[in-house]
Amino acid sequence: MCIDYITDRGPVRAIDHVSLDLERGEFLGVAGESGSGKSTLAQGIMRILPPPAVITGGEAIFEGRDILTLDEEELRKLRWSRMSMVFQSAMDALNPVITIGEQITDTMHAHGDMSARAARDRAAELLEMVGIPGDRLDAYAHQLSGGMRQRVGIAIALALEPTLLILDEPTTALDVIVEREILEEIRGLQRKLGFAVIFITHDLARMLQFSDRVAVFYAGRMAEIGPAEELRTSPRHPYTQGLLRAFPSVHGSTVEMFSIPGTPPSLRNPPAGCRFHPRCPVAVELCSKVSPELKQIGPGHSAACHLAK
Ligand SMILES: Nc1ncnc2c1ncn2[C@@H]1O[C@H](COP(=O)(O)OP(=O)(O)O)[C@@H](O)[C@H]1O
Ligand SMILES: [Mg+2]
Repeated sequence: MCIDYITDRGPVRAIDHVSLDLERGEFLGVAGESGSGKSTLAQGIMRILPPPAVITGGEAIFEGRDILTLDEEELRKLRWSRMSMVFQSAMDALNPVITIGEQITDTMHAHGDMSARAARDRAAELLEMVGIPGDRLDAYAHQLSGGMRQRVGIAIALALEPTLLILDEPTTALDVIVEREILEEIRGLQRKLGFAVIFITHDLARMLQFSDRVAVFYAGRMAEIGPAEELRTSPRHPYTQGLLRAFPSVHGSTVEMFSIPGTPPSLRNPPAGCRFHPRCPVAVELCSKVSPELKQIGPGHSAACHLAK
């Protein structure tokens, strides 16, 4: 899939020839620095990209069909019922004037026939599933903590039993303990209910703990993808290696991340060759000239690096 943002100063390619295969019931983590194209990818898969984004090529196969060729009507049937998404801002997107129970049942009514009673029972069940007592159905968003509101967002996304749940940095605004609880909850639900997950975050180390497989993005391209255990113990792309060496250092009350020197490139004018080469500690001349293809280096493990073997 290729996705461009059409701007006054020309197109910006935010997703550059990325393809992903997802197994049924698999938990895929997607990691990369801010601006690497993670949200664009997620919204591209859901086909909910706002202008000026345009999908300019490739395919996105979901349950045997290319989502990129479906019309609005077909997409409407697919979205939320087969694949659904939780946004970083889901907790702020809840309607403040109707109860959380109504917001969950609204989703169910919008997509199928269900009696009011059955919908309410199901909403309570969904809340319990995400760790909120079912009797909070009549609560309003402002009565809940950020973590609880984000869980309501997850309950809404799961209301129609999708086979794919995409979560775009759903825990970034929350503290690390709440983040861990929510991740464990999603992992548990995914194992129990069997849906597939694409979980997006800038936190690679966290993804390696929770995912079956992890994809690492850099400047709109996939740098590396492989089994989580494999990436944890033998990352092959210098970018992945750099992200894993990034560690928090506590000075008094502030925490600093020591990470890869330099900043990600602008996608308006990305470096020639490998996009990571200006920041790469092991780059050779070839890296500044020729863009490396994503190539297989082990079972289910691929990296886009000239030096990876
Ligand atoms: N509305 C927009 N207009 C132009 N370019 C955009 C817009 N939104 C995103 N982009 C470009 O797409 C890139 C990827 O953005 P995004 O998918 O939000 O990254 P991430 O979610 O990894 O932080 C950005 O670095 C930027 O170059
Ligand atoms: Mg994003």
